[in-house]
Amino acid sequence: MSPKLLSPLFPWLILLALASLYFFSSITITLPHSPSSPTSQSQSLAISRSPSCNLFRGNWVLHPHHKPLYDETCPFHRNAWNCLRNKRENMSLINSWKWVPKTCDLRRIDPYQFLGLMRNKNVGFVGDSLNENFLVSFLCILRVADEGAKKWKKKGAWRGTYFPKFNVTVAYHRAVLLSKYEPIQSEAGDQAGLKGYRVDVDVPADDWARITSFYDVLVFNTGHWWNHDKFPKETPLVFYQAGRPIVPPLEILDGLKVVLGNMISFIQNEVPAKTLKFWRLQSPRHFYGGDWNQNGSCLFNKPLEEFELDSWFETRNNGVNKEARQLNHLIEEAIQGTDIRLLDLNHLSEFRADAHPAIWLGRQDAVQIWGQDCMHWCLPGVPDTWVDILSALIHKYYRER
Ligand SMILES: *[C@@H]1O[C@H](CO)[C@@H](O)[C@H](O)[C@H]1NC(C)=O
Ligand SMILES: *[C@@H]1O[C@H](CO)[C@@H](O)[C@H](O)[C@H]1NC(C)=O
Ligand SMILES: *[C@@H]1O[C@H](CO)[C@@H](O)[C@H](O)[C@H]1NC(C)=O
Repeated sequence: MSPKLLSPLFPWLILLALASLYFFSSITITLPHSPSSPTSQSQSLAISRSPSCNLFRGNWVLHPHHKPLYDETCPFHRNAWNCLRNKRENMSLINSWKWVPKTCDLRRIDPYQFLGLMRNKNVGFVGDSLNENFLVSFLCILRVADEGAKKWKKKGAWRGTYFPKFNVTVAYHRAVLLSKYEPIQSEAGDQAGLKGYRVDVDVPADDWARITSFYDVLVFNTGHWWNHDKFPKETPLVFYQAGRPIVPPLEILDGLKVVLGNMISFIQNEVPAKTLKFWRLQSPRHFYGGDWNQNGSCLFNKPLEEFELDSWFETRNNGVNKEARQLNHLIEEAIQGTDIRLLDLNHLSEFRADAHPAIWLGRQDAVQIWGQDCMHWCLPGVPDTWVDILSALIHKYYRER
């Protein structure tokens, strides 16, 4: 074909090709790939061939034709994060940024291929609402490949989904501190005078302690509850070991260290060795001009620049968002020498001050009561990239075995 002939026809050919791919996607097992994205086969090859491949370091690049795999109609949304439904401004711009690692290729997850790989297997998330945010993105993406996906809430799961075509369950177990905790009963007698919450540093929460053998892949996190907003001086965390209060009482971050040590030993001793285990680092918050309860806001219309990140997050600058890096150090230290893999989703997320629900929370009075949400993420949005990375690592693991 001559270039002259090609040019007027070309857009129509693409449209036709996309339309037929869309049509056939429901009956074949391949995902419609956009013209610019090769198959995921080459994705995993690209990853395993490059020894220095690091999916966690890179830049966000504007790709105006990048489109999410799901929308506001996904039945697994949580209202406050369903930014399309809540009419958050600039959602298409938020979703036009693509994470491009410096040293390797990151392809978008292919939900058909992923569920095929995971046939008869299960993926579990354990931790706080940032892991739930991750889960919701995952469920909405995987549902593309199995519209019969059904809500699943067994074995103590907070929520989850069963994908019948592939016999795969993906679920979230809420355990914000990972260890067991409960309000202190003041009439407990010998512990008179103690108030707040009892944390048993050596006892994993019931929500996940006995279900780990059900899962082939587990993703842990904790961190957002380890602060004095959640547990102020009047009702602090009081740490117990072997059933008795630790004396002298531990400060909250020292308590976290002890809990991390104990939970990680539990995981090493009790979770089957064949289970692929990840620990995800903190998800950074982006409160600007004050903390969440001081009118802090995140009305940004583009990602931060790399040179801005330290001023926002570096611990010694003592900014309102400093705790993510602070906790990350503790977590990295704690999982060293174990078979738990680090999922460093922190750095790539630090850029995305523009991608939180902010004031679009789906409820008139929400901002007045809780302030802006500059902590969780809009969906579709940044967690979709977390899913791309997690699925690439899972693929790599199963292919190399
Ligand atoms: C579904 O997967 C589970 C493991 O999660 C397995 O025990 C069960 O046999 C599978 N069912 C079918 C019908 O293959
Ligand atoms: C937050 O904004 C409201 C309304 O503008 C104001 O009344 C209040 O004092 C502000 N709070 C803080 C902590 O700055
Ligand atoms: C949306 O994008 C426009 C154009 O870039 C910008 O002027 C506006 O401030 C953005 N809104 C938000 C909430 O970021």
